[in-house]
Amino acid sequence: MSDWIASRGMPLSGEVMVPGDKSVSHRAIMLGAIAEGATRIEGFLEGGDTRATAAIFAQLGVRIDAPSEGVRIVHGAGLRGLRAPSAPLDCGNAGTAMRLLTGLLAGRGFDTVLVGDESLSRRPMRRVIEPLAAMGAVIESNDGCAPLRIRGGRALRGIDCTLPVASAQLKSAVLLAGMDANGETVVREPHPTRDYTERMLAAFGADIEFAPGFARLRGGKPLRATSIEVPADFSSAAFFLVAASIVPGSELLLRKVGVNPRRTGLLHVLRAMGADITEENPGERGGEPVADLRVRHASLRGTEVPVECVPDMIDEFPALFVAAACAEGTTVVRGAMELRVKESDRIATMAAGLRTLGIRVDETPDGADIHGGTLHGGGIDSHGDHRIAMAFAVVAQIAQGEVRIGDVANVATSFPGFDALARSRGFELHPA
Ligand code: S3P
Repeated sequence: MSDWIASRGMPLSGEVMVPGDKSVSHRAIMLGAIAEGATRIEGFLEGGDTRATAAIFAQLGVRIDAPSEGVRIVHGAGLRGLRAPSAPLDCGNAGTAMRLLTGLLAGRGFDTVLVGDESLSRRPMRRVIEPLAAMGAVIESNDGCAPLRIRGGRALRGIDCTLPVASAQLKSAVLLAGMDANGETVVREPHPTRDYTERMLAAFGADIEFAPGFARLRGGKPLRATSIEVPADFSSAAFFLVAASIVPGSELLLRKVGVNPRRTGLLHVLRAMGADITEENPGERGGEPVADLRVRHASLRGTEVPVECVPDMIDEFPALFVAAACAEGTTVVRGAMELRVKESDRIATMAAGLRTLGIRVDETPDGADIHGGTLHGGGIDSHGDHRIAMAFAVVAQIAQGEVRIGDVANVATSFPGFDALARSRGFELHPA
């Protein structure tokens, strides 16, 4: 098991371009694989999660070339062209891979088995199995968790469903199954979530209409290959936004970050806390809004996170907890129950780690009150959760002592090279 040692670093400075967006990279492989023709992907995230998705499609008979780092050419097999795999499909740590693939594979002519690592095998899959079963899919699970056995040869029918949780993975699974279904599939969300699947389906020529919280798709229309430029991942940028905000004297420029409004809830909350973050050079990359984000150190104060912002920053709570620990006063998080079923229970894992470093955190079932204070050193267990590991590397930059962060190998699932990049900008962060 690999660990990091992190401690007080230098002010952060210079420019950073973080790796490609994880959500977009997964979807680019998936839609490229079922399209007709060759899809070129640039800025593909070379992370464990997205490589697992690419390897799965190779097992399903799709040729995927990797001519250089961050580039993939997916030779689409068409809507009906995937082949039966000869072994289980390993999603590793990737919830997005498992949930979206469950939808994408539900209407195939062959059986598939999806497996994952220990963390993924604990995560809830019933939420995706149930709407797919209503479409006619037959999916067996281990009491609602992976491994999932998807029975082939089922004719799917479109449904009109309101999802029980605001989850882009769930919405996407239903839409991908809808591509194989008879008739129309309508998905309504309790709160709008990231709309990459809808945008990308439209770019590939699918018959889809969508608006925040709503999507309607008519299945069966062949997808046309396209080219996709993946923006830099806001969720990876988030660690640098918080780091530069809390380390005195910092000024950092994050280049070409995806700023889809369904992802940038943390920007609003950090600004409400007093952060100094400006957007420069607004543009577009692969149909997605991007901007350079300039962040300067600022004194932060506690805030109440608006409940309606929670889905727009669902992956950013480890970073937000760090900002809250360094702020003056209390930060209140509620309505974030979903954090308990991420790669780890992110409320409990962040609370435990921050307490170890001297911060008072009062947990509630759906959030926490984080009381800003002075941080000292200590030993943290990341529970193999990539974002928890990176969050503690950030907070260590202003701790009064050394922080040892355990079990950090999974950082490579979403942000390969994080430690080297962070070091190059001023972090004090080393393999133990
Ligand atoms: C994702 C959706 C979110 C997010 C995950 C990526 C996606 O999960 O936490 O990291 O790519 O659709 P939920 O749909 O479970 O909220």
